[in-house]
Parts: sequence; C-alpha cells; structure tokens
Amino acid sequence: MKTWSSSSDVSIFLVLVFFSFFLAPELVFGSCVASPEYARHPPGSVIFTEHERSNSQPQQVHISLVGSDHMRISWVTNRNEAPSIVEYGKTPGKYESSTIGNHLQYEYFSYRSGEIHHVKIGPLEPSTTYYYKCSGAEPEFSFRTPPANLPIEFVVVGDLGQTDWTASTLEHVDQEDYDVFLLPGDLSYADTQQPLWDSFGRLVEPYASKRPWMVTEGNHEVESFPIIFPKGFEAYNARWLMPYEESGSTSNLYYSFDVAGTHIIMLGSYTDYEKDSEQYLWLQADLAEIDRSRTPWIFVLLHAPWYNSNAAHKGEGEAMRKAMEELLYNARVDVVFAGHVHAYERFTRVYDNTADPCGPVYITIGDGGNREGLAMKFENPAPAISMYREPSFGHGRLRVIDERTAYWAWHRNNESDSIVADELSLQSLSTSEICMQNGENHDEL
Ligand SMILES: [Fe+2]
Repeated sequence: MKTWSSSSDVSIFLVLVFFSFFLAPELVFGSCVASPEYARHPPGSVIFTEHERSNSQPQQVHISLVGSDHMRISWVTNRNEAPSIVEYGKTPGKYESSTIGNHLQYEYFSYRSGEIHHVKIGPLEPSTTYYYKCSGAEPEFSFRTPPANLPIEFVVVGDLGQTDWTASTLEHVDQEDYDVFLLPGDLSYADTQQPLWDSFGRLVEPYASKRPWMVTEGNHEVESFPIIFPKGFEAYNARWLMPYEESGSTSNLYYSFDVAGTHIIMLGSYTDYEKDSEQYLWLQADLAEIDRSRTPWIFVLLHAPWYNSNAAHKGEGEAMRKAMEELLYNARVDVVFAGHVHAYERFTRVYDNTADPCGPVYITIGDGGNREGLAMKFENPAPAISMYREPSFGHGRLRVIDERTAYWAWHRNNESDSIVADELSLQSLSTSEICMQNGENHDEL
C-alpha cells in the first residue's frame, strides 16, 4: 500500500478533494452532537493499494454466496490467457475439485479493465474451510462456508471507501470471527477513476477472499455518463456480480438470498422502484415466497435511508420509502439497514414515520471510513423514533442466535480499538403472535 505520491495519483487526489468538498458540505458547516468524551476524527487519507503480483497471478479476489451450497469466486488478471479456473479442496495444497467459469472485460473511456473472472464452485459443505487457487497460479487462498443453520454472525459496513479509516474498520472487523459480510452500498469511491476500483479490490482482498461479501449498490457505483454510459454501473456490474439470477431478479442491482435461517434482500436505491417497476414486482414476488418456518428472519439492505435525522441526504430515500415501505411492513421484515449518511443512527420499530411494534428496526450504518468523512449535523431535538445516533466511523455485527433472538452491536472505531457504543437485543417478528396474526392490517394493532 502507499499514500499518494506520483503526479497522476496527485491529480486524482485533487479531483477527489474537490468532489469531497461539494458532496459533503456538512463537513465544513456542520455541528457535532455526539457524546462529549469522544473526539471526532477528520476524514482519512485515500490509500492506493498497488498491484504487486505478476500479470498472470490473481488479484482482487473476492467471494460471494450463490444458492445454498455454492460460492462464486471473482478475481482479476492482467494477462488475457490466464484461465478462468478455480481449483479447491479441504486440505492446503491438495485440490480434489476444479471448476471452469468465464471472464469479461469492460471499457470506460480510455480505461480497459483486466480480465475479470467469475467461477461458481460447489456443492460445498457448510461450516467448512476450503483452500483454493485461481487461474492455476499462486497464492493459495482459503474461505469458510457459512453454517447451514443458526446461529450465524453477519458484519454490516456501509460506505466503505479506501482510506486509512477503511483500513482500521476492516482490521477491527477481522479481530472477531464472523460468517458473512454485508455492504449496503458505496464500495470503492472510484467515482469514474477506474484504477481506484482495482485499488479497492486489492485493499479488501485479504478480507473478501475468506468470507463472502454480499453487496448492493450506492450512488458512488452509478458512474453514468450521458449517451456513452446512460445506464451506468459498468464497473460495479462487471466486478461485483451478485446472485441475482438465482433469486429471479433480472438485474444485478437487486436480489435476495437465504443463509442459515435468514432471508436477506438487497434492494437498489438507484434503479426504478415505483409500483409498476420490475424491482417492485420482483420484491413483491420474493416476499410472497418466504417461508418463515424455514427462514424466520428477514433483513433488507439498501443505500439511501428511509429514516434519517441527519442533515446529510435528508429526504433522499423518501420516494422509495413511499413506494415500498408497505411491502416490507406487511411481510414483517425484521431490520432494514442503509448507508449513504456517514454516521450511525438506529431507529425503533417504525411504520410510516410512527413507532410500530410490527415494523422493521431501521439502522443507518454509512460510516465505514470513506474519504468524504463524517456527517456531523443531526437535527435537534432528535425525532421520537430515533433511539441512538452518532457521527463516528465503525462497523456493526448482527449475531442471529436462534429463530427468536438476535443481538446487534455497533462498534465505533476508537483510535486503535473497536468499542461497542450501541447494542440491542432483537426478537424476530416471525415469533410475535400479534404481528403475525394481524398480517397485513396495521390499523388493528
Ligand atoms: Fe452514498
């Protein structure tokens, strides 16, 4: 890794500083409402992670869940002839199985990506460590599959970026074991500077190659440009392929998956969500198929929060909330995680701006460590439905213990340590007699 040094790096850095200033004016004009004993930290320096392997060796390796017993291995090589093959097995250096997949490249103005490989391997056993090699080349990586049944532990981090705060967040995440990494949008903050996508892939590889990373898109993934890239998401869709086809979705921008007694829905804040949209119709069908006896928990991730008492991005999730909130409420979704606002905020169970025992808990966790820094200005007084809020970098951990109980903790990055600053015990709505009885009529509650 290095900090900015070459002239091209410096010019990219200046562009980033320019955009930072205008995209996050609250950094300059905001006020802090956090606990007085903790000093707020400024934005971190952008880290550019160099490519230090040969062109035929894999880089930017990351894995993602596909169905109940498969894993997608994704990586990049800079040599066209490198094969899209994954060799894997349960013993280091001994690979009983191998699978061939495919690869693609994309172009973005003058940038041409390396070969981006995607290979789906399996069937795999649950709670098992596998060792694997990509493109037949060193190094060897390993991952552990999630458990087949509860308990399971998720890490949730939004708006990650690639600064020294990102690095410390990921180090804190790595200090305790977990099964699956969930990211509600804003990954690399490349913002059209495509080499920063490569740098981001290299930065996260030590973590994303050993636990599945399941992501959805944020505004920093769009990268659209009139006429040339009108739909955007060129880099995101090519690099971060998620199991959308397996969940009946027609877009990589929204999908769902089951893991160990949980049904997880990744929604797209930056694609159509109105009631006649494909995403809305897909969500409706997806929710209708959930069997709470098999997956008693439902978690939703999206980028722009539906509930937010921070001055940053106020109201940006409102149109999507109006379109989709009733669907999630009627399905008795347990928690909705969002990013976008660079702070932490937890709401009580809510439906239509009112505390409701059968609504989801809403949590904003857009504080992974990106270059734009923290969103310091919360509205005062806090709305009655906002339970805890603080502008600090950090990450969340969701431990689902059994069909009834889960435990949520938000860990603040406190210098070199990670401190639990907010925690909550949750009961699944699927085990709430009154919420399940009253199904789709909130007026009776
Ligand atoms: Fe965002």
